[in-house]
Amino acid sequence: MKNFTTMSMRYDGHKFEIIDQQMLPDKKIWVSIESPQDIIAAIKALKVRGAPLIGISASLSLALWSSKAGDLESFITALEQVRESRPTAVNLMNNLDLIKAEAVKSGFNTERIQALAFQLFQDDVDLCKKMGRAGAGLVDVGDGILTHCNTGGLATAGDGTALSVLLESHRQDKNIHVYVDETRPLLQGGRLTAWELLEAQVPHSIICDNMAGWFMQLGKVQKIFVGADRIAKNGDFANKIGTYSLAVLADFHKIPFYVVAPSTTLDSNCIDGKGIPVEMRKDSEVRGVKGHFGEIRWAPEGSPVLNPAFDVTPSQLVTGFVIDGEVHKSLSL
Ligand code: MRU
Repeated sequence: MKNFTTMSMRYDGHKFEIIDQQMLPDKKIWVSIESPQDIIAAIKALKVRGAPLIGISASLSLALWSSKAGDLESFITALEQVRESRPTAVNLMNNLDLIKAEAVKSGFNTERIQALAFQLFQDDVDLCKKMGRAGAGLVDVGDGILTHCNTGGLATAGDGTALSVLLESHRQDKNIHVYVDETRPLLQGGRLTAWELLEAQVPHSIICDNMAGWFMQLGKVQKIFVGADRIAKNGDFANKIGTYSLAVLADFHKIPFYVVAPSTTLDSNCIDGKGIPVEMRKDSEVRGVKGHFGEIRWAPEGSPVLNPAFDVTPSQLVTGFVIDGEVHKSLSL
């Protein structure tokens, strides 16, 4: 496989590494991924995260490990374990289905498995560019744009999904200002999106999630761009918890609300949002916070917690879907 370096992954011909996103923005720690167990642990701990990146890093790590797997049966057993690492982002399942099919079809030819994993990586880089260009066509000069979670180079192999639109709009001198939802409980917006925008010198302000409605009422937000973790056949989609509230607020304030995703996020087996599995995560993520600064708990240890990692937004609240290089008013797969 060819060597590569992105914001979130690198391969030097020997070692495959991911950046530990839990330690960003203040510490850049690269973690070596040598086995399926390593990538499962990294995905579960959100060291590597974001729908496209989960699928691609899982495929690359399995492909590189395939030469150590011994035989097809052991490879498929490991692949099925990786599939279980997180339930909502369908890119993981879609990519692993392709890797598994290639492993079987090629008679467990590890070079061909690796070539496919690399192709998935390259495809995502290209799709990010296409989403960026298509989405930037929806942005007007001077727009205030609100975004949620992290959808950039730390969530994909390229420039991102929704964030790619914002980066491309900035490159096109559209004079945008980005309102970055901090994205409780794990702060992907405040920690990761803010860091990516700062690096790219895109004007932005971090806001707490519960400030979004107020900034809409003040007329500061002209458009909202978010990513997706799974899009059902009718266009209902799962994304980071808090997305649904934003869509309802956007509807009330008549603000266009766009979903940006590669076609690897489409789930043609899922009829509507009711069929999307929503991951429930640990109580400790809500009772406190953890990062490069250590771990802090502020809520009472004994208080019960609910922690769904995603919510599902009905398609009728979506103004448009930017899928790969095209803008669709509605989706019907
Ligand atoms: O729990 P995470 O950080 O993996 O959730 C990520 C998101 O919800 C993103 O918005 C989503 O993956 C789409 S973007 C590439």
